Order: sequence, then structure tokens, then C-alpha cells
Amino acid sequence: MNILVTGGAGYLGSVLVPNLLMRGHKVRVVDIGYFGLSHLYGLTSQMELICGDLTRINSDEKFLQGLLDEQDCVIHLAALSNDPSAEAYPSLTYDLNFHTTSVLAKAAKERGIRFIFASSCSVYGENDGELIETSSVNPRTIYAKSKHDAENELLGLASASWKPVILRCGTLFGLSRRMRFDLVVNVFSLYSTLRNQIQVFGDGLQWRPFLSVQDCARAFLLAAEKKDLSFMIYNVAHENLRITEVTNTFKRINPSLQVAYIPAQDPDKRDYRVSAKRIVDEGFYPHIKVEAGAKRVADAITQGLIHDPESNRHNNVKWLKELNRNAKAG
Ligand SMILES: NC(=O)c1ccc[n+]([C@@H]2O[C@H](COP(=O)([O-])OP(=O)(O)OC[C@H]3O[C@@H](n4cnc5c(N)ncnc54)[C@H](O)[C@@H]3O)[C@@H](O)[C@H]2O)c1
Repeated sequence: MNILVTGGAGYLGSVLVPNLLMRGHKVRVVDIGYFGLSHLYGLTSQMELICGDLTRINSDEKFLQGLLDEQDCVIHLAALSNDPSAEAYPSLTYDLNFHTTSVLAKAAKERGIRFIFASSCSVYGENDGELIETSSVNPRTIYAKSKHDAENELLGLASASWKPVILRCGTLFGLSRRMRFDLVVNVFSLYSTLRNQIQVFGDGLQWRPFLSVQDCARAFLLAAEKKDLSFMIYNVAHENLRITEVTNTFKRINPSLQVAYIPAQDPDKRDYRVSAKRIVDEGFYPHIKVEAGAKRVADAITQGLIHDPESNRHNNVKWLKELNRNAKAG
């Protein structure tokens, strides 16, 4: 298949793209390159890499046509992809996460191109019990609302002949060519390794569904290749854990680890557990649990395989602010 991956140079995309290539797909990536593109240069003989701002499609039909030309499937990952970034840049978040998603999906539908959207379990917000795809949602943040609005837009476009696929991903962890150290397991791996101390803001009792970035990439691969999926929305997660349970995992890995609980003035209210039965029934089997993923990240840091892991570059909101300051100064 010919597959356009938006945001393909990001944390998830950088794991997904090599997987797609290994499966024999022809890949075109479009990415603005906020976190660099050079980690994909080793693959450019096998794929097309377009450095560009996807929001241009909102007003530039030729750019849109060029991206979608000859494509069979779009995997739409490009986004401002966490709560702090969305709080810092709300209008950009709405423009990219909602409006651009809508323009891209409409254009894909007109051309009969499959469309797979990276949504987030954070649309569930604060919610009791193990949530399934038909459970009520409760998006609490600008980021979660942008994802939920985009989901509704896609569902509104669905017809008998064109059905988008919405993957509500859990909180990711693990190694990628483009690392993020603003995701809880990865942050804990970083500071457990470098400082022997991790910090938990609040009581740590909130639940989160976790998923390794490698398994998440396999879910997108499955969604792209399996054209007879039974549903449009899927939760994609592996383990539901309280943050305190994640800290216990780290204590097993590093018994001398100190865990500091910091009273949070503005605690993260997201608290949800999900069932991934629906996607498991489609043939998705996640392999990598938090403990194994955390060990791999810690080992990579110890072995010096991740350049300057404490750089702002690995923290989305800090890096976007730094880029913004540099753009203003320059
Ligand atoms: N990482 C997670 O835990 C997680 C969980 C649930 C859902 N998701 C979703 O998965 C997707 C990928 O997440 P990620 O962790 O890889 O995030 P990421 O921030 O690492 O990647 C996003 C990519 O989009 C690109 N991008 C941003 N604005 C763009 C624009 N205007 N034009 C073109 N490219 C643009 C960035 O340069 C980046 O490479 C996102 O949609 C995110 O919301 C991620």
C-alpha cells in the first residue's frame, strides 16, 4: 500500500515508519520537523520525506493534492500531542488537531483513501470502571477536547463506503529514534537512572492505561492492513496501572530508588482505565509490559545510546517554547 504518515518523524511515527517499510509498504511522511528529521535520514532511500507544515492544507489545495496523490491510506499522527503543549498553544492545537484533521479526512474521503487517526484515551478524562469504546467520555483538557472534537468530525463523515479508524491510544513508553522524556514511564526511567530519585506529583493513585510505543505502532499497522475491521473506534492499551504501581515497578528494577511525593497545586485530574478487548478481538496482541520497556529505556540511557537525554528537545512543551523564543529572537 502507499501510506501517507503525517507527523511521521515524531515519537510514535519514528517507530511506525520502519515497521511499515519492513512490511513492504511505500511510505510518504510529512512532518514540520519540530523535533528534528535527521533520525529518519537513514530511511530516505526507501521512503519520501516531506518537511512541511500540515496546516497548509487548510488553504493550499495543491499542497493537499500533492500529499494525497496516489495514496491508499493516511495515518494521521501529526498533532500538538500532550496537555502542556495544548495549554501553551491552544489555537495552534485547535487548528492542527481539529481543523486540519477535518480537512485531511474530508479530502481522503473524497478520494476513497483509508484514514486512521491517532486519538487518545485521555478523551475519557476522569471516569470510573474499565472503560470501553461506548462508555461516556469526559475530556478535561484542551488536548483531550481537540482529540474528541476530531473524533466526532470523523464519525460524522463516515458513510457505507468510507469508514475512518480511530485508535484511542494509552500513555506510551519505550524507545524510539525520537525520544520523548515527557511521558511518565520514560521520565521515571530517566530520573531513576540519572538521579536515583523520581518525583510523583499528587498521591499517584490515578489510573492510566499504558502501552509500549512498539506495540502501538503494531496497532496502527494492523489498522492499515486489516480492511474489514468491525468498528471505527478502538482503545489501544496493554496494562492499566496506578502511578504508584508504576513506581513499584521501578523499585523492583532499582531497589535503592527514592520516590518523592510532591503535593500538587494543580493535580493532573486524568484518571481512567480502559479495556482493549475490542482491538484484541481483531488480532492485536501487545507484547511489551511497562517493566520490560522501562528496563530497555534505562539500559539505553546507561549505555549512552540517547544523546543528551535531559535536553529540552525530549520534552514537547519545553522544546516548542524554546523554538518559539528562538523564532521571535531571530
Ligand atoms: N505519545 C503518547 O503517549 C500518545 C498517547 C495517545 C495518543 N498519542 C497521539 O499519537 C500521535 C503521535 O504522538 P507522538 O507521541 O509521536 O507525538 P510527537 O509530538 O512526538 O509527534 C508529533 C509529530 O507531529 C509533527 N507536527 C506537529 N505539528 C505539525 C504540523 N503543523 N505539520 C506537520 N507535522 C507536525 C511534529 O513535528 C512531530 O514530529 C499524536 O497525534 C498524539 O496525540 C500519543
